[in-house]
Amino acid sequence: MLIKKPADIPSSEITPKSVYMNRRQFITGATVAAGGALAAAYTVSELTEPSTAAEANTKLSAVKSKYDTDEKQTPYKDITNYNNFYEFSTDKYGPAELARNFRTNPWQVKVGGAVGQKKTYDLDSLMKLATLEDRIYRLRCVEGWSMVIPWVGFPFSNLINQVQPTSKAKYVMFTTLWDPGQFPGQRAQVLDWPYTEGLRMDEAMHPLTLLTFGLYGETLPNQDGAPVRIVVPWKYGFKSIKSIVKIDFVGSEPPTAWNKATPNEYGFYSNVNPNVDHPRWSQATERRIGEFLKRKTLMFNGYGDQVASMYNGMDLKKYY
Ligand code: MTE
Repeated sequence: MLIKKPADIPSSEITPKSVYMNRRQFITGATVAAGGALAAAYTVSELTEPSTAAEANTKLSAVKSKYDTDEKQTPYKDITNYNNFYEFSTDKYGPAELARNFRTNPWQVKVGGAVGQKKTYDLDSLMKLATLEDRIYRLRCVEGWSMVIPWVGFPFSNLINQVQPTSKAKYVMFTTLWDPGQFPGQRAQVLDWPYTEGLRMDEAMHPLTLLTFGLYGETLPNQDGAPVRIVVPWKYGFKSIKSIVKIDFVGSEPPTAWNKATPNEYGFYSNVNPNVDHPRWSQATERRIGEFLKRKTLMFNGYGDQVASMYNGMDLKKYY
């Protein structure tokens, strides 16, 4: 997915640590506010991978999900140092450092379009919708690598149910923050900013689709899409849009960042499909980060039992 390298972040734009720390305290407050709904089934210390790099992060209490895979989890250091986040850098090793001082407090997510209840959420009010779960999902990227990540979030359908989409709502469009002052990548036309993504309503309502606030039991590291992102585990990773500020319910297929950039390579559906090659490479195998040998890629990233019925009768070569 590489296009070109953006300029480095100037030191004048580094946010003081106190601001960064305030956001962490804010998240703590939000979690406590939602506390009634959060019966912790196990504590963070029971997770298999310690989060040594995250001393500034806040612990999130969440219940274990029935949707988990029991595959070996990718180490925290890989999940947080090997990232696709083009607003910061097209270099996968760039976002960890460049996102260090990204401001996520205050943060608002505006929800509008074809809904009965237009709403602007701050993180606190978003967290009030929480029925937080730990979800251990595979994330599979088009470039042929995958990870197994213990996300923390809640079903996106919790939000949909609150805003009450009208019968005109057929799709959901997500938009990432536009802020070239903080996102060095947005100062170059690497993509048509801001990054947007979309789902069909049934996909958005599907219980696997997660509004995500954390990983490994802690608030999301900035490079992984703080403070809130979507995770859609049966689709290629680029559908899992980061740092969302806007959600619109719309009547027709919304424009998406990668489809606009190279429509013959990235379709709207982007379901993980080993039978449909990317025009420049095969999608039949993948390398799990941390492993040497490649493994076969599974249809719908292994979530076929749960999601295949949504695509019955569709030609998945045409709707790639
Ligand atoms: N969201 C935004 N706003 N900008 C991006 O560049 N990259 C996507 C997706 N979401 C991206 C984004 C791609 S290509 C992938 S593979 C995943 O985020 C990577 O998520 P991770 O860095 O947490 O592994």
